[in-house]
Amino acid sequence: MKHRILGLFALATLLVGIFSCNQKTESSKSTPEELAAGFQLLEANCFTCHSPRGSIESRIAPPMIAIKKHYIDENTTKEEFTKDLVAFVSHPSEDISKMPGARRKFGLMPQMNFSEEQLTQIAAYLFETEIEAPDWFEEHYKQERKRHGKTTTSLTPLEQGKQFAMATKAILGKNLLSAIGTKGTAGAVEFCNTKAIHLTDSMASAQGVKISRVSDQPRNSNNTATGSLIEPINKFKASLSSGQTPSGASIIYNGKLVHVYPIITNTMCLQCHGEKETQIKPETLKKLDVLYPTDQATGYSENELRGIWVVEMD
Ligand code: HEC
Ligand code: HEC
Repeated sequence: MKHRILGLFALATLLVGIFSCNQKTESSKSTPEELAAGFQLLEANCFTCHSPRGSIESRIAPPMIAIKKHYIDENTTKEEFTKDLVAFVSHPSEDISKMPGARRKFGLMPQMNFSEEQLTQIAAYLFETEIEAPDWFEEHYKQERKRHGKTTTSLTPLEQGKQFAMATKAILGKNLLSAIGTKGTAGAVEFCNTKAIHLTDSMASAQGVKISRVSDQPRNSNNTATGSLIEPINKFKASLSSGQTPSGASIIYNGKLVHVYPIITNTMCLQCHGEKETQIKPETLKKLDVLYPTDQATGYSENELRGIWVVEMD
Protein backbone atom coordinates (compact mmCIF):
# COMPACT_ATOMS: atom_id res chain seq x y z
CA MET A 1 0.00 0.00 0.00
CA LYS A 2 2.69 2.41 1.05
CA HIS A 3 4.57 1.58 -2.14
CA ARG A 4 1.50 2.17 -4.20
CA ILE A 5 0.99 5.62 -2.75
CA LEU A 6 4.62 6.48 -3.28
CA GLY A 7 4.32 5.17 -6.83
CA LEU A 8 1.26 7.30 -7.49
CA PHE A 9 2.99 10.27 -6.01
CA ALA A 10 5.99 9.74 -8.27
CA LEU A 11 3.73 9.36 -11.26
CA ALA A 12 1.88 12.53 -10.37
CA THR A 13 5.12 14.45 -9.99
CA LEU A 14 6.29 13.13 -13.29
CA LEU A 15 3.04 14.14 -14.96
CA VAL A 16 3.17 17.61 -13.47
CA GLY A 17 6.73 17.81 -14.71
CA ILE A 18 5.79 16.82 -18.23
CA PHE A 19 2.78 19.07 -18.19
CA SER A 20 4.71 22.12 -17.09
CA CYS A 21 7.40 21.39 -19.68
CA ASN A 22 4.74 21.39 -22.33
CA GLN A 23 3.38 24.61 -20.98
CA LYS A 24 6.80 26.13 -21.25
CA THR A 25 7.30 25.27 -24.91
CA GLU A 26 3.75 26.39 -25.65
CA SER A 27 4.23 29.74 -24.00
CA SER A 28 7.46 30.44 -25.87
CA LYS A 29 5.66 30.51 -29.24
CA SER A 30 5.48 34.07 -30.49
CA THR A 31 2.30 36.01 -31.04
CA PRO A 32 1.57 37.32 -34.57
CA GLU A 33 2.54 40.80 -33.36
CA GLU A 34 5.89 39.54 -32.12
CA LEU A 35 6.54 37.78 -35.40
CA ALA A 36 5.66 40.94 -37.31
CA ALA A 37 8.08 42.94 -35.20
CA GLY A 38 10.79 40.34 -35.82
CA PHE A 39 10.23 40.41 -39.55
CA GLN A 40 10.40 44.18 -39.72
CA LEU A 41 13.60 44.30 -37.71
CA LEU A 42 15.15 41.63 -39.88
CA GLU A 43 14.17 43.45 -43.02
CA ALA A 44 15.44 46.79 -41.83
CA ASN A 45 18.65 45.63 -40.18
CA CYS A 46 19.81 42.30 -41.49
CA PHE A 47 18.61 41.78 -45.07
CA THR A 48 20.68 44.82 -45.99
CA CYS A 49 23.67 42.45 -45.88
CA HIS A 50 22.10 39.00 -45.56
CA SER A 51 19.94 39.28 -48.63
CA PRO A 52 19.68 36.18 -50.78
CA ARG A 53 19.18 38.44 -53.80
CA GLY A 54 21.98 39.14 -56.20
CA SER A 55 24.48 36.70 -57.59
CA ILE A 56 26.68 34.52 -55.44
CA GLU A 57 29.76 36.51 -56.48
CA SER A 58 28.18 39.79 -55.48
CA ARG A 59 27.23 38.58 -52.00
CA ILE A 60 28.72 40.40 -49.06
CA ALA A 61 27.42 38.07 -46.36
CA PRO A 62 25.86 34.60 -46.21
CA PRO A 63 22.08 34.47 -46.75
CA MET A 64 20.02 33.97 -43.58
CA ILE A 65 19.05 30.45 -44.53
CA ALA A 66 22.71 29.42 -44.38
CA ILE A 67 23.00 30.98 -40.94
CA LYS A 68 19.90 29.13 -39.78
CA LYS A 69 21.41 25.86 -40.95
CA HIS A 70 24.57 26.46 -38.96
CA TYR A 71 22.80 27.61 -35.83
CA ILE A 72 19.82 25.29 -35.63
CA ASP A 73 19.66 21.50 -35.77
CA GLU A 74 16.82 19.22 -34.67
CA ASN A 75 17.88 19.47 -31.02
CA THR A 76 18.29 23.22 -30.80
CA THR A 77 15.68 25.00 -28.68
CA LYS A 78 14.45 28.49 -29.39
CA GLU A 79 16.11 29.66 -26.18
CA GLU A 80 19.49 28.24 -27.18
CA PHE A 81 19.25 29.74 -30.65
CA THR A 82 18.28 33.12 -29.23
CA LYS A 83 21.18 33.04 -26.80
CA ASP A 84 23.70 32.18 -29.55
CA LEU A 85 22.35 34.78 -31.96
CA VAL A 86 22.32 37.54 -29.37
CA ALA A 87 25.83 36.61 -28.25
CA PHE A 88 27.32 36.71 -31.73
CA VAL A 89 25.53 39.74 -33.15
CA SER A 90 26.12 41.88 -30.04
CA HIS A 91 29.87 41.16 -30.17
CA PRO A 92 30.94 39.38 -33.36
CA SER A 93 34.11 37.42 -32.59
CA GLU A 94 36.01 34.48 -34.00
CA ASP A 95 35.76 32.61 -30.71
CA ILE A 96 32.02 32.11 -30.89
CA SER A 97 31.54 32.12 -34.64
CA LYS A 98 29.95 28.96 -36.02
CA MET A 99 30.69 29.78 -39.65
CA PRO A 100 34.45 29.76 -40.30
CA GLY A 101 33.87 29.43 -44.05
CA ALA A 102 31.73 32.58 -44.19
CA ARG A 103 34.27 34.39 -42.05
CA ARG A 104 37.07 33.53 -44.44
CA LYS A 105 35.05 34.54 -47.44
CA PHE A 106 33.49 37.77 -46.15
CA GLY A 107 35.55 38.72 -43.10
CA LEU A 108 34.05 38.88 -39.62
CA MET A 109 30.66 40.57 -39.38
CA PRO A 110 31.13 44.22 -38.38
CA GLN A 111 30.00 45.23 -34.91
CA MET A 112 26.78 47.26 -35.02
CA ASN A 113 24.38 48.45 -32.37
CA PHE A 114 21.34 46.25 -31.96
CA SER A 115 19.56 45.91 -28.64
CA GLU A 116 19.08 42.53 -27.00
CA GLU A 117 15.33 43.02 -27.31
CA GLN A 118 15.56 43.58 -31.07
CA LEU A 119 17.77 40.54 -31.50
CA THR A 120 15.43 38.40 -29.41
CA GLN A 121 12.54 39.33 -31.69
CA ILE A 122 14.62 38.63 -34.77
CA ALA A 123 15.65 35.26 -33.33
CA ALA A 124 12.01 34.33 -32.66
CA TYR A 125 11.02 35.13 -36.22
CA LEU A 126 13.96 33.20 -37.66
CA PHE A 127 13.33 30.22 -35.43
CA GLU A 128 9.62 29.95 -36.07
CA THR A 129 9.39 30.85 -39.74
CA GLU A 130 10.51 29.00 -42.83
CA ILE A 131 12.73 31.57 -44.42
CA GLU A 132 14.40 32.40 -47.62
CA ALA A 133 15.42 29.35 -49.43
CA PRO A 134 16.08 31.05 -52.76
CA ASP A 135 12.55 30.35 -53.97
CA TRP A 136 11.15 31.27 -50.57
CA PHE A 137 12.50 34.70 -51.07
CA GLU A 138 10.88 35.31 -54.41
CA GLU A 139 7.54 33.71 -53.54
CA HIS A 140 7.00 34.39 -49.90
CA TYR A 141 8.93 37.52 -49.21
CA LYS A 142 6.28 39.69 -50.83
CA GLN A 143 3.53 37.90 -48.89
CA GLU A 144 5.39 38.22 -45.63
CA ARG A 145 5.88 41.83 -46.40
CA LYS A 146 2.18 42.36 -47.00
CA ARG A 147 1.36 40.44 -43.87
CA HIS A 148 3.90 42.00 -41.54
CA GLY A 149 5.29 44.98 -43.32
CA LYS A 150 2.44 47.46 -43.43
CA THR A 151 2.31 48.77 -39.93
CA THR A 152 3.12 52.09 -38.43
CA THR A 153 6.61 50.94 -37.53
CA SER A 154 7.53 50.33 -41.18
CA LEU A 155 10.45 52.38 -42.38
CA THR A 156 10.00 55.40 -44.62
CA PRO A 157 12.04 55.38 -47.85
CA LEU A 158 14.43 57.89 -46.29
CA GLU A 159 14.97 55.58 -43.31
CA GLN A 160 15.28 52.51 -45.50
CA GLY A 161 17.88 54.21 -47.68
CA LYS A 162 19.77 55.11 -44.55
CA GLN A 163 19.93 51.44 -43.53
CA PHE A 164 21.51 50.63 -46.90
CA ALA A 165 23.99 53.47 -46.58
CA MET A 166 24.91 52.50 -43.00
CA ALA A 167 25.33 48.82 -43.87
CA THR A 168 27.60 49.78 -46.78
CA LYS A 169 29.52 52.03 -44.45
CA ALA A 170 29.94 49.18 -41.98
CA ILE A 171 31.24 46.84 -44.68
CA LEU A 172 33.59 49.42 -46.18
CA GLY A 173 34.84 50.54 -42.79
CA LYS A 174 35.50 47.01 -41.62
CA ASN A 175 37.42 46.11 -44.77
CA LEU A 176 39.35 49.37 -44.68
CA LEU A 177 40.41 48.81 -41.09
CA SER A 178 41.55 45.30 -41.78
CA ALA A 179 43.48 46.50 -44.88
CA ILE A 180 45.22 49.15 -42.75
CA GLY A 181 45.94 46.51 -40.13
CA THR A 182 47.54 44.07 -42.53
CA LYS A 183 49.08 46.34 -45.20
CA GLY A 184 49.62 49.65 -43.42
CA THR A 185 48.06 52.96 -44.51
CA ALA A 186 49.96 53.24 -47.78
CA GLY A 187 49.00 49.68 -48.69
CA ALA A 188 45.39 50.36 -47.78
CA VAL A 189 45.28 53.18 -50.35
CA GLU A 190 45.36 50.48 -52.99
CA PHE A 191 42.51 48.73 -51.21
CA CYS A 192 40.42 51.93 -51.47
CA ASN A 193 41.50 52.34 -55.05
CA THR A 194 40.48 48.88 -56.21
CA LYS A 195 38.03 47.56 -53.65
CA ALA A 196 35.94 50.48 -52.39
CA ILE A 197 33.87 50.84 -55.53
CA HIS A 198 33.64 47.09 -55.96
CA LEU A 199 32.31 46.66 -52.40
CA THR A 200 29.84 49.49 -52.76
CA ASP A 201 28.59 47.96 -56.00
CA SER A 202 28.29 44.51 -54.43
CA MET A 203 26.34 45.96 -51.59
CA ALA A 204 24.08 47.68 -54.07
CA SER A 205 23.42 44.69 -56.28
CA ALA A 206 22.78 42.48 -53.25
CA GLN A 207 20.08 44.94 -52.24
CA GLY A 208 18.70 45.65 -55.68
CA VAL A 209 19.43 49.34 -55.12
CA LYS A 210 22.02 51.81 -56.37
CA ILE A 211 24.50 53.16 -53.86
CA SER A 212 27.37 55.55 -54.46
CA ARG A 213 29.64 57.95 -52.61
CA VAL A 214 30.24 61.38 -54.05
CA SER A 215 32.08 64.48 -52.92
CA ASP A 216 32.50 68.16 -53.77
CA GLN A 217 36.26 67.62 -53.24
CA PRO A 218 36.69 64.20 -54.80
CA ARG A 219 39.81 62.09 -54.72
CA ASN A 220 38.58 59.97 -57.61
CA SER A 221 37.01 62.25 -60.22
CA ASN A 222 34.39 59.55 -60.91
CA ASN A 223 33.01 60.41 -57.49
CA THR A 224 32.36 64.08 -58.26
CA ALA A 225 29.09 65.48 -56.94
CA THR A 226 27.19 67.15 -59.75
CA GLY A 227 23.89 68.96 -60.34
CA SER A 228 21.32 68.80 -57.59
CA LEU A 229 23.68 66.83 -55.31
CA ILE A 230 25.57 70.05 -54.50
CA GLU A 231 22.70 71.56 -52.55
CA PRO A 232 22.39 68.89 -49.84
CA ILE A 233 26.18 68.94 -49.50
CA ASN A 234 26.06 72.65 -48.72
CA LYS A 235 23.15 72.15 -46.34
CA PHE A 236 24.88 69.32 -44.47
CA LYS A 237 28.02 71.45 -44.17
CA ALA A 238 26.06 74.39 -42.81
CA SER A 239 24.31 72.23 -40.28
CA LEU A 240 27.61 70.62 -39.18
CA SER A 241 29.25 73.99 -38.70
CA SER A 242 26.35 75.18 -36.59
CA GLY A 243 26.97 72.21 -34.28
CA GLN A 244 24.10 69.99 -35.48
CA THR A 245 24.26 66.47 -36.88
CA PRO A 246 22.66 66.34 -40.33
CA SER A 247 20.77 63.11 -40.99
CA GLY A 248 19.61 62.87 -44.59
CA ALA A 249 17.40 64.23 -47.35
CA SER A 250 15.34 63.06 -50.31
CA ILE A 251 15.91 64.97 -53.53
CA ILE A 252 15.42 64.66 -57.27
CA TYR A 253 18.66 63.91 -59.13
CA ASN A 254 18.75 63.35 -62.88
CA GLY A 255 14.96 63.10 -62.86
CA LYS A 256 14.94 60.38 -60.18
CA LEU A 257 14.12 60.35 -56.48
CA VAL A 258 17.30 59.67 -54.50
CA HIS A 259 18.11 59.70 -50.80
CA VAL A 260 21.32 61.30 -49.56
CA TYR A 261 23.17 61.00 -46.24
CA PRO A 262 26.24 62.75 -44.88
CA ILE A 263 29.67 61.08 -44.76
CA ILE A 264 31.54 62.65 -41.88
CA THR A 265 35.25 62.37 -41.10
CA ASN A 266 36.74 60.97 -37.91
CA THR A 267 40.39 60.85 -36.80
CA MET A 268 40.99 57.58 -38.62
CA CYS A 269 40.25 59.22 -42.00
CA LEU A 270 42.92 61.88 -41.60
CA GLN A 271 45.83 59.52 -42.30
CA CYS A 272 44.58 59.64 -45.91
CA HIS A 273 42.36 62.75 -46.05
CA GLY A 274 44.05 65.12 -43.53
CA GLU A 275 46.81 67.73 -43.88
CA LYS A 276 49.51 66.72 -46.36
CA GLU A 277 52.51 67.84 -44.34
CA THR A 278 51.49 66.73 -40.90
CA GLN A 279 48.86 63.99 -41.03
CA ILE A 280 49.45 62.04 -44.24
CA LYS A 281 52.73 60.12 -44.15
CA PRO A 282 55.14 60.63 -47.08
CA GLU A 283 54.82 57.07 -48.35
CA THR A 284 51.01 57.32 -48.29
CA LEU A 285 51.16 60.65 -50.09
CA LYS A 286 53.41 59.13 -52.74
CA LYS A 287 50.85 56.40 -53.46
CA LEU A 288 48.04 58.96 -53.57
CA ASP A 289 49.95 61.21 -55.99
CA VAL A 290 50.54 58.33 -58.37
CA LEU A 291 46.97 57.00 -58.31
CA TYR A 292 45.14 60.34 -58.04
CA PRO A 293 47.04 63.18 -59.73
CA THR A 294 43.97 65.44 -59.39
CA ASP A 295 43.25 64.51 -55.75
CA GLN A 296 41.20 67.19 -53.96
CA ALA A 297 40.38 65.09 -50.89
CA THR A 298 43.06 66.29 -48.46
CA GLY A 299 43.17 69.00 -45.80
CA TYR A 300 40.17 67.69 -43.89
CA SER A 301 39.92 67.70 -40.13
CA GLU A 302 37.73 65.66 -37.82
CA ASN A 303 33.91 65.97 -37.97
CA GLU A 304 33.79 67.56 -41.42
CA LEU A 305 31.64 66.62 -44.39
CA ARG A 306 33.77 64.38 -46.63
CA GLY A 307 30.93 63.64 -49.04
CA ILE A 308 27.50 62.04 -49.25
CA TRP A 309 25.94 58.62 -49.80
CA VAL A 310 23.51 58.59 -52.70
CA VAL A 311 20.94 55.78 -52.52
CA GLU A 312 18.45 55.10 -55.29
CA MET A 313 15.71 52.51 -54.63
CA ASP A 314 12.90 51.24 -56.87
C1 HEC B 1 26.96 45.28 -42.69
C2 HEC B 1 26.61 43.95 -43.12
C3 HEC B 1 25.88 43.06 -42.12
C4 HEC B 1 24.70 43.34 -41.47
C5 HEC B 1 23.86 44.60 -41.57
C6 HEC B 1 24.39 42.16 -40.70
N1 HEC B 1 25.36 41.21 -40.87
FE1 HEC B 1 25.39 39.35 -40.03
N2 HEC B 1 27.12 38.93 -41.04
C7 HEC B 1 27.78 39.78 -41.91
C8 HEC B 1 28.92 39.08 -42.47
C9 HEC B 1 29.91 39.68 -43.46
C10 HEC B 1 28.91 37.77 -41.92
C11 HEC B 1 29.86 36.61 -42.26
C12 HEC B 1 31.08 36.59 -41.44
C13 HEC B 1 30.90 36.05 -40.06
O1 HEC B 1 30.41 34.93 -39.89
O2 HEC B 1 31.26 36.78 -39.13
C14 HEC B 1 27.77 37.71 -41.01
C15 HEC B 1 27.45 36.60 -40.24
C16 HEC B 1 26.36 36.52 -39.38
C17 HEC B 1 26.07 35.38 -38.53
C18 HEC B 1 26.87 34.10 -38.44
C19 HEC B 1 28.08 34.34 -37.59
C20 HEC B 1 29.00 33.17 -37.40
O3 HEC B 1 30.13 33.22 -37.94
O4 HEC B 1 28.65 32.23 -36.65
C21 HEC B 1 24.93 35.69 -37.83
C22 HEC B 1 24.24 34.84 -36.78
C23 HEC B 1 24.50 37.00 -38.28
N3 HEC B 1 25.39 37.49 -39.22
C24 HEC B 1 23.34 37.62 -37.85
C25 HEC B 1 22.95 38.91 -38.25
C26 HEC B 1 21.73 39.53 -37.81
C27 HEC B 1 20.68 38.90 -36.91
C28 HEC B 1 21.70 40.77 -38.40
C29 HEC B 1 20.66 41.84 -38.21
C30 HEC B 1 20.40 42.24 -36.85
C31 HEC B 1 22.91 40.92 -39.19
N4 HEC B 1 23.63 39.76 -39.08
C32 HEC B 1 23.26 42.05 -39.91
C33 HEC B 1 27.41 41.06 -42.22
C34 HEC B 1 26.28 41.72 -41.75
C1 HEC C 1 43.99 54.18 -46.42
C2 HEC C 1 43.63 55.50 -46.90
C3 HEC C 1 42.21 55.97 -46.67
C4 HEC C 1 41.55 56.11 -45.48
C5 HEC C 1 42.04 55.76 -44.09
C6 HEC C 1 40.26 56.68 -45.81
N1 HEC C 1 40.14 56.88 -47.15
FE1 HEC C 1 38.56 57.69 -48.12
N2 HEC C 1 39.46 57.34 -49.89
C7 HEC C 1 40.72 56.80 -50.05
C8 HEC C 1 40.96 56.57 -51.46
C9 HEC C 1 42.20 55.98 -52.08
C10 HEC C 1 39.77 56.98 -52.14
C11 HEC C 1 39.48 56.92 -53.62
C12 HEC C 1 38.67 55.65 -53.88
C13 HEC C 1 38.30 55.47 -55.32
O1 HEC C 1 39.20 55.51 -56.17
O2 HEC C 1 37.10 55.29 -55.56
C14 HEC C 1 38.85 57.45 -51.12
C15 HEC C 1 37.59 57.94 -51.39
C16 HEC C 1 36.69 58.34 -50.44
C17 HEC C 1 35.36 58.84 -50.74
C18 HEC C 1 34.70 58.92 -52.11
C19 HEC C 1 34.81 60.28 -52.71
C20 HEC C 1 36.16 60.59 -53.27
O3 HEC C 1 36.81 61.48 -52.72
O4 HEC C 1 36.62 59.93 -54.22
C21 HEC C 1 34.80 59.17 -49.55
C22 HEC C 1 33.42 59.75 -49.33
C23 HEC C 1 35.77 58.84 -48.51
N3 HEC C 1 36.91 58.35 -49.10
C24 HEC C 1 35.54 59.00 -47.17
C25 HEC C 1 36.40 58.53 -46.18
C26 HEC C 1 36.09 58.60 -44.77
C27 HEC C 1 34.82 59.21 -44.17
C28 HEC C 1 37.14 58.00 -44.11
C29 HEC C 1 37.26 57.73 -42.63
C30 HEC C 1 36.16 57.06 -42.00
C31 HEC C 1 38.09 57.59 -45.13
N4 HEC C 1 37.61 57.93 -46.37
C32 HEC C 1 39.30 56.97 -44.86
C33 HEC C 1 41.63 56.51 -49.06
C34 HEC C 1 41.31 56.46 -47.71
